[in-house]
Amino acid sequence: MSNEFGSPRMKRQDGYVADVSYPPHFHKEMQPVWLASVAHLLGTAAPDITRPYTYCELGCGLGINLLVAAATNPLGQFVGVDFNARHLAVAEEAAGALGLGNLRFVHADFARFERDNEQPFDFIASHGAWSWIAPAQQQHVLRLVERSLKPGGLFYLHYMCHPGATQMIPVQKLLNELAPHVAGDSEGQVQAGIELLCRLDAAGVFVDQPRLSASLRTLRQANPAYLAHHFLSDHWAPQHSVDLHRAVARGGVAYLGSANVFENLDSLSIPGAAQPLLAGLPSPALREAVKDLARNQHQRQDLFQHSPEALAVPEHRRRVGAMRFCLGPQAPGTGGLSFATPIGEIQGPAAIFSPLLDRLAQAPASFDELSTLPAFFDNPGLLSQSLQMLMWQGSVHPLRDDGRGCDESAGRLREWLEQHGIRLAVMAECGTAAHTNPL
Ligand SMILES: C[S@@+](CC[C@H](N)C(=O)[O-])C[C@H]1O[C@@H](n2cnc3c(N)ncnc32)[C@H](O)[C@@H]1O
Repeated sequence: MSNEFGSPRMKRQDGYVADVSYPPHFHKEMQPVWLASVAHLLGTAAPDITRPYTYCELGCGLGINLLVAAATNPLGQFVGVDFNARHLAVAEEAAGALGLGNLRFVHADFARFERDNEQPFDFIASHGAWSWIAPAQQQHVLRLVERSLKPGGLFYLHYMCHPGATQMIPVQKLLNELAPHVAGDSEGQVQAGIELLCRLDAAGVFVDQPRLSASLRTLRQANPAYLAHHFLSDHWAPQHSVDLHRAVARGGVAYLGSANVFENLDSLSIPGAAQPLLAGLPSPALREAVKDLARNQHQRQDLFQHSPEALAVPEHRRRVGAMRFCLGPQAPGTGGLSFATPIGEIQGPAAIFSPLLDRLAQAPASFDELSTLPAFFDNPGLLSQSLQMLMWQGSVHPLRDDGRGCDESAGRLREWLEQHGIRLAVMAECGTAAHTNPL
């Protein structure tokens, strides 16, 4: 048996990298306020997060997403599941240091958690696990979602997808096959593999794949622990989003849209000339497949809902109208904006964004209040689109509207993040945090 002190640590657990720790990562798109807000923007009734609710993260790693969520959302009860004891030891120590009574961790694989869990959840979220785990473990995730997500509950799933990730299939295969031939831990193995790929590139092997050459140069700069988790799993497999949507739907859980709000703005994220072709397609699944093609999508952050109920138009308007927004710590000043999207630069005119940013710089405001600005008068669609672009960029965030304070836990979280060199600005009033590296 492997342990921390004696024999070498086990390199893989059920085919997944277990000997090096995943670095701390945070994803605003999986936080409860964000997920509930996006569901409302998409026109369905989200779980009511102004009352007590439950939230589970599958494959929580070091627990950064949950530490932020629990410290800034006092009405949520949070559960993190992971089979890597070293990851959970860090997460549990942090939760203890922060005094978080609303966060617990379960040391289990998805199969055992699915079998043992009795708790129903308003939210189930998983980032960075699905595309790396064995098909049998994926089935347990689906069964857990089917059994434990409450009606109306939201499921967030991040995964690698075609066609953007397709070119990496042979690269990942090579890295995975090479690893056992390299002495040392998974970090050293993946670095040796990337080095080999770069030498193959220099020898002209990828001359007909310029995008792959560019990706390899980027990979050389990346954190080796991240690369080991990303590339050395025995089960890494991108998927077609339509196949995944069908698999999730079998459990009564329907695809709503993306938690990455830019991807819900078809008029911006799909070329204009392709719009009529998209509109003419006979099924939502076909439209989704074409969107993946149009964006050369390589990963997705999908949002699903158990038994969704579409809001009637007046109720949808009322809920979105009541949503309140504030500026993020790195919001740009007044003037035109440039959005660096995955499909290229999109220019945001000053006539639209200056009044919006100026108004929010004075104080948080509701959608209804913002819609009285002359730029948006009689044009709520333009306001919604502009706010979602700013949300996507990290400049604007919906407020957590439960009226609860969490100054102490948020303050302790700020200190802890600083002590550990994790560059996140806590936004307690929004139930989240924001990356503080340059936008
Ligand atoms: C790439 S990390 C993602 C961590 C975190 N969700 C994030 O976004 O930063 C994936 C995590 O899933 C865990 N994991 C992988 N397979 C698992 C399984 N079958 N059961 C439980 N946890 C698993 C790993 O130990 C790891 O901590």
